[in-house]
Amino acid sequence: MRIRTLLLVSTISLTLPALSAAFETKAKLGEALFFETSLSGDRTQACATCHMPAAAFTDARPNRFDRAVSIGADGTTVGRRHTPTLSYVGEIPAFHVNDAGLHTGGLFYDGRAHDLSAQADGPLFSPLEMALPSAEVLVDRIKEVPLYAEAITRLFSREALAQPDSVLTAVAESLASFQRSVAFSPYDAKYDRFLRGEIVLTKLEEHGRLLFFSTLINCHSCHKLDHPSRETFTDFSYHNIGIPQNLSVNLIQPDLGLAENPAVQDKQQEGKFRVPTLRNIAITAPYMHNGVFQELETIMHFYNKYVMQAPNNPETGLPWDDPEVTENISLDLLRQGQPLDEYRINSLIAFLETLTDKQFEHLLD
Ligand code: HEC
Ligand code: HEC
Repeated sequence: MRIRTLLLVSTISLTLPALSAAFETKAKLGEALFFETSLSGDRTQACATCHMPAAAFTDARPNRFDRAVSIGADGTTVGRRHTPTLSYVGEIPAFHVNDAGLHTGGLFYDGRAHDLSAQADGPLFSPLEMALPSAEVLVDRIKEVPLYAEAITRLFSREALAQPDSVLTAVAESLASFQRSVAFSPYDAKYDRFLRGEIVLTKLEEHGRLLFFSTLINCHSCHKLDHPSRETFTDFSYHNIGIPQNLSVNLIQPDLGLAENPAVQDKQQEGKFRVPTLRNIAITAPYMHNGVFQELETIMHFYNKYVMQAPNNPETGLPWDDPEVTENISLDLLRQGQPLDEYRINSLIAFLETLTDKQFEHLLD
């Protein structure tokens, strides 16, 4: 049943190589584990439950929080952060301080996992997510499926199954290999096909593209990697852009972002989050680390409030709520550039829609 579901999900939603009985590569083993509900404490959740391949690796399950946050394996517990897309996650560099002395890269909104291989223990053992009680239980669950046990011995080492730590490493590395595969980073959106000269953009999309990369507005200062053929639409830096608290998630403490990363713990980093990719953005609502915005248009009006009078949040009709963290807002960058009028907003949104991978284009309106 498990394997059937896996095949079904992957043929519908991902153009992945056909599964063979034995997992030939770490990525293939990782693919199977990504869909494996036995990796959660009560066997109800897999990575794919929250990172649904058919929904650009976000959580499309409706819930009482308008999907701002996800429900954990126990069916009730919720985290405080929005489940991000895993699109292009393999392109995120390891957490480091760059030449300019700025924190860059790392996994999770606060970069607390050094890289993809280090990231998997997070969801596997988090009581808010898959809630496995221990690495010993992980070993038991792996051994229940002889194909997994055989693949780990073959792909890692003959002794790999003997130690809980080496099983965890094998599981994490396999999941990381899968997430680094082309299924997650196909670079085949309309935008990529345009760059390769295969198609032309509409007038509106082209206007949005030129505007996005221009110095008339400021998106390029954070959402541009400067890698023309593999543009991730983030430079992986950290900024506080003054996102309001999401009151419907009922947070008591503000989310301090980067300052909560154990490797950082610096007051000047409070409220900063890693700049997210804009790939597949048109189909991965709600937005921001706390899922507080539902519409791309709202985000455009939100950025406008730094360059003109834009008093109200169009989603609520009320004044914008205060930033969750009022310190450290990147006002120098946010105040650069001209306001976005209606035509600019429409063209930017049309451009952002061209960043949708081919496999998800049917999800656009
Ligand atoms: C209950 C829902 C849920 C499940 C199940 C889940 N995740 Fe996540 N995932 C999240 C949330 C929420 C975050 C953001 C957490 C944060 O930043 O603190 C996240 C973040 C991530 C990130 C970091 C992405 C980035 O841009 O930094 C990766 C990679 C990831 N998850 C992979 C996995 C893998 C692999 C599994 C299975 C072992 C998994 N997730 C299971 C909800 C989930
Ligand atoms: C100072 C850096 C900076 C600038 C300038 C900037 N952004 Fe962002 N952007 C961010 C950060 C950081 C986030 C995530 C904030 C959070 O979750 O708290 C974000 C989030 C977003 C999101 C939501 C992403 C998601 O997955 O939730 C969109 C869409 C977006 N920005 C578009 C733009 C556009 C369009 C522009 C130009 C008009 C722009 N940004 C300018 C840093 C920036």
